[in-house]
Amino acid sequence: MNTWKLEYEGFEPEEEQLREALTSTGNGYFCTRGSFAWTESDEKVHYPGTYAHGVYNRETTIMAGVPVLNEDLVNLPNWLLLELRIEGEESIRMDSVELLSYRHELDLYGGVLSRNLRFRDRAGRETSLDTRRFVSMSNPNRAGMEWRITPENWSGSVQVVTALDGRVLNRGVARYQDLEGRHLDPVSTHTSSPSFADDAADVIALEVRTRQSRIYVAEAARTRVYGENGLDVERSLYRMEDYVHEVLGFDLEQGRTTRVEKMISFYTSRDNAISEPLSDAMRSIGRCGTFSEALERHKRALASLWQECDVRLPADEEVQRLLRVHIYHVLNVCSPHTADLDAGVPARGLNGEAYRGHIFWDELYIFPFLNFRLPEVTRTFLMYRYRRLNEARAAARETGYRGAMYPWQSGSNGSEETQSVHLNPESGKWDPDLSRNQRHIGADIFYNVYKYYMASGDFEFLKDYGAEMMLEITRFWASIAHYNAERDRYEIHGVMGPDEFHEKYPGAEKGGLNNNAFTNVMVAWVCETAREILDILPSRNREALRDALGITDEELATWDEMSRKMFVPFHEDPEGGEVISQFEGYEDLEELDWGYYRNNYEKIQRLDRILKAEGDDPDRYKLSKQADVLMLFYLFTREELKVIFERLGYGLDSETAKRNADYYAGRTSHGSTLSFLVHAHVLADLDLDASWEMYLTALGSDVNDVQGGTTGEAIHLGVMAGTLDLLQSGYLGCEVRDGGLHFDPNPPEKLEGLHFPILFRGIPVDVSLSGGKLSVAVQDEDREHSVKVGVGDEVQEIRAGQSHAFGIGSGVV
Ligand code: BGC
Repeated sequence: MNTWKLEYEGFEPEEEQLREALTSTGNGYFCTRGSFAWTESDEKVHYPGTYAHGVYNRETTIMAGVPVLNEDLVNLPNWLLLELRIEGEESIRMDSVELLSYRHELDLYGGVLSRNLRFRDRAGRETSLDTRRFVSMSNPNRAGMEWRITPENWSGSVQVVTALDGRVLNRGVARYQDLEGRHLDPVSTHTSSPSFADDAADVIALEVRTRQSRIYVAEAARTRVYGENGLDVERSLYRMEDYVHEVLGFDLEQGRTTRVEKMISFYTSRDNAISEPLSDAMRSIGRCGTFSEALERHKRALASLWQECDVRLPADEEVQRLLRVHIYHVLNVCSPHTADLDAGVPARGLNGEAYRGHIFWDELYIFPFLNFRLPEVTRTFLMYRYRRLNEARAAARETGYRGAMYPWQSGSNGSEETQSVHLNPESGKWDPDLSRNQRHIGADIFYNVYKYYMASGDFEFLKDYGAEMMLEITRFWASIAHYNAERDRYEIHGVMGPDEFHEKYPGAEKGGLNNNAFTNVMVAWVCETAREILDILPSRNREALRDALGITDEELATWDEMSRKMFVPFHEDPEGGEVISQFEGYEDLEELDWGYYRNNYEKIQRLDRILKAEGDDPDRYKLSKQADVLMLFYLFTREELKVIFERLGYGLDSETAKRNADYYAGRTSHGSTLSFLVHAHVLADLDLDASWEMYLTALGSDVNDVQGGTTGEAIHLGVMAGTLDLLQSGYLGCEVRDGGLHFDPNPPEKLEGLHFPILFRGIPVDVSLSGGKLSVAVQDEDREHSVKVGVGDEVQEIRAGQSHAFGIGSGVV
């Protein structure tokens, strides 16, 4: 098996949308689905789509007389279009030819998507067509495609139609079909070249504008044909205001290969260093060189990213391949090019329209991988949050709170983008969506800032931006929490935890639940850590920030009290002992008849939809979509959690994790693939075999489309990046402690030979696992630095150019 390839033999129409998402090409600035070049969207088999960070648009749909506003990541003009007409006949389509062979392949290392096919048309002509494409990692505004056409048993004339199409809609998600999908207005099309690019006479260009957000997007394409002995190419043009094409006519000779190159430039008015998108797109295309030159540059840029980001696991080829698929997709969305943008990280990446390209808490799963490899990209994503701090402040104020209340779903300007109604595909009904009550997002952002600072040591960021966000988030928690004198505890009411099946108490009018344990414990930690952050700042900065925000001694005293007195609900586990209650009153809910649902439905991950379609209500039952309580064991080590709980005056014994893992595993449907990750992580030191099994499910969840159709709507970036992080922080127990790297390894046997580079506070470090030893090598021998590394109780200061092999006891054999 080639672990650098994702390969498909044979064309399977029902799988095509999944393959399109999995084989997308992108560079951290824009991304294009791996669709056929010669087809427009038919909403069933083919769905070409191009998306760029931050290009959102809002549209209102009138639903039964009620205006419903949504903000979407916009499907941008299709630059792929290339069609082949033989002897003046209709363009070749998959259903108009007999396929003799077909291969669809993604080269992960080179970032090249290829389709190689041989077909026989209705006139019996046999033709082979080898296509390649890339989105450039060296120049973020460029992409290229190449076709090699070989007539096998005929000679004759052909036409290649090369187009840019601005008539595209957002139609990639069946559930959103009733919602307005028109986001683009035409601006203009062009066919000639401005004088600064003399060789660009073969250029077509198109400009569109998003309808409400008024972002201009321009694409220019240069198409050329290369034959063995030179070719006469006849060109003709056709253009409308939102579509332009050029037809290239030439002759083919039996057995001889002719090449067609389509080079693309892509700009938006959100770009840096431009005059305006169209003229810059024209300028850029005039300078782009040939396909092979541009491809070489792209490959070199991507190769250097692989050097920093690859995770090697020679012991298991399939796992190795899936890890690389996940790294590839992370780099499609999060690359050094992203570091220049005002961009957050969309939960579903940039290769489809699921969840409208919104930014959720999934960052929590994505940043740990980036923190140790591309920390400048995490910084960008955190700056995205910082730039929207005023919006979060306004949201808190307008809801009657203080500080900063970040939205559950965020898009262009940081206002709340969570939909208010949700289509249940099981019933065809629109139900209210209360998931915006997931206030834990604020604590998650706080946690992300903290972890980024720990891994990168980026004090400037903390001082100038991070601390301000953290303090304002803490302030929000202090204002939403209230003191219950009877209990002598602080409580938070009216919120939801990560488990979205529970939106309110059964039969209640009001949304939200009381004392979600995950939220309350996070808040206790936030309140304690806010003080630590203030202590880290030099007194001058500390005082300046306190003055600017008006943080009083009383507030600090309240935070301190909250870190000791947040309420955490517990209830009896029928198997004995106590478990943490997901929220107050959870124990009063009914047990679900899991057997019934397993027997009667093929897939029960989305039990919420099933129950609602049956006229029932998921709020009634002890069931979870995904890990909620268990998130605590995912985000904190056992020791950290023990300290937090003890500070709160609650005990956490050695059995707590196991009891909670067992209890909630039996009541969770894993309706979000994030859940597999969390369960795998928590199981890592409870039941390694079960953990690995769950890990493999998480690892295969997108490639195997375990949710039955969601991956085709866009990959799940949280689970992809999370599986990469699980190796380092789950199985190797890697964390930043006392200014150094600390490992607490408990690897499954399958990880023998694991090797990966990381960047710790600017210092390159290699980590490998072999023969029962964990080796840590600090790179760059000609530099002076060293890293303190601990494994269990052994701590070593490793200097540049040196390495140390730590014994890890049991585990790997
Ligand atoms: C999950 C959320 C997640 C969102 C985006 C939902 O299905 O329940 O936790 O943030 O998907 O990935």
